[in-house]
Amino acid sequence: MNIPPLIDIIAGARPNFMKIAPIIRAMQAAQQRGSTLRYRLIHTGQHYDARMSGDFFTQLGIPAPDINLEVGSGTQAEQTATIMTRYEKLLLDSASSLCLVVGDVTSTMACAIAAQKLCIPVAHVEAGIRSGDWSMPEEINRMVTDAITNWFFTTSRVANQNLRHAGVAEERIFFVGNTMIDTLLANIDRLQPPPFWNEQALVEGNFFVLTLHRPANVDTSGDFARLLTAVAEGTRGLPIVFPVHPRTAKTLQAIATLPASLRLVDPQPYLEFNYLVKHAKAVITDSGGVTEETTVMGVPCLTLRNSTERPETVSEGTNELIGTDPAKLKPALDRLFAGEWKKGSIPEKWDGQTGARIVAALERLLTPAGQTN
Ligand code: UD1
Repeated sequence: MNIPPLIDIIAGARPNFMKIAPIIRAMQAAQQRGSTLRYRLIHTGQHYDARMSGDFFTQLGIPAPDINLEVGSGTQAEQTATIMTRYEKLLLDSASSLCLVVGDVTSTMACAIAAQKLCIPVAHVEAGIRSGDWSMPEEINRMVTDAITNWFFTTSRVANQNLRHAGVAEERIFFVGNTMIDTLLANIDRLQPPPFWNEQALVEGNFFVLTLHRPANVDTSGDFARLLTAVAEGTRGLPIVFPVHPRTAKTLQAIATLPASLRLVDPQPYLEFNYLVKHAKAVITDSGGVTEETTVMGVPCLTLRNSTERPETVSEGTNELIGTDPAKLKPALDRLFAGEWKKGSIPEKWDGQTGARIVAALERLLTPAGQTN
């Protein structure tokens, strides 16, 4: 008797949720057409606040997780160890056919290791991207995950090249596009202003959005304060809407005086955050995912990092790497105000069909008519 394949879809932290939504939708559509693929949704609990997790499930129509490992906060090693221990126990009690992980967070790496050690194959969505910066935990997560991945679903030709250079066989690489962009395109007409839009008298094209949460930018209050001053000076008094990540909130408390144009708000739900981005004059960020969304929406983006694992957002999109030196901000913002920012184009296969391509590949790989590996 053939047992239908069971795929574990892993999600743990905020940037995972928009990446799994289209895969689940495509899986449900395949089931409606008679596919025997089954899945169970596993939330590791790395992010647990409504604002970092629950709101995204509600807005993006993601079903409630089948299992929550409830790992909670901790150091990198503590979170990794707890996720591995709990996911391993789950697999020992009830094995799956494939562990599908997305992105580059701690949950991605921890579940990939636990599964592969039990000889359960791993599929990695957003595989092959590299910043080369080992000081970022995400880069370690990417490298470790890709070292033990069986099937690589990629967002770009650069990612394909990185994997080939690492010796990955061609037939294991699936250039499918970007699931985060599936979610953006599926929701672009549903974006909605946050409740503070009117209170703050925000005007389309006349405010900035700021997001910062990388340790290099926010963990030292003195450096962080200098960066915020440079942002405020460069943006010439226009409002700067700053949704504050929990990590960033801790350091902000230690800064005595904040620039008057900074509008601190809670982390925003998906539809509100992307409404702000779509209507901003520009976005200033140290996030990776946001640079993909600004590229697709054609909004100028200034990245306060020295490297990016998403080079197509710079070579093709609207993103520019400014670095972490506050002095670099003003010249870049002067170019923006002079109307000299590049227009950009949308990278190949960022077309809203990525979830369907992934599920079609999984059906070929996992169902009896398909190839076995
Ligand atoms: C994680 C990801 C990062 C991603 C970011 C998006 C890793 C290594 N990093 O970083 O790639 O861009 O999420 O948000 O996985 N906290 C809360 N509530 C929560 C979750 C966390 O208050 O729901 C607090 C934690 O206690 C901790 C801080 O936020 O103090 C950081 O959380 P953590 O999950 O460790 O990493 P992030 O910085 O969020």
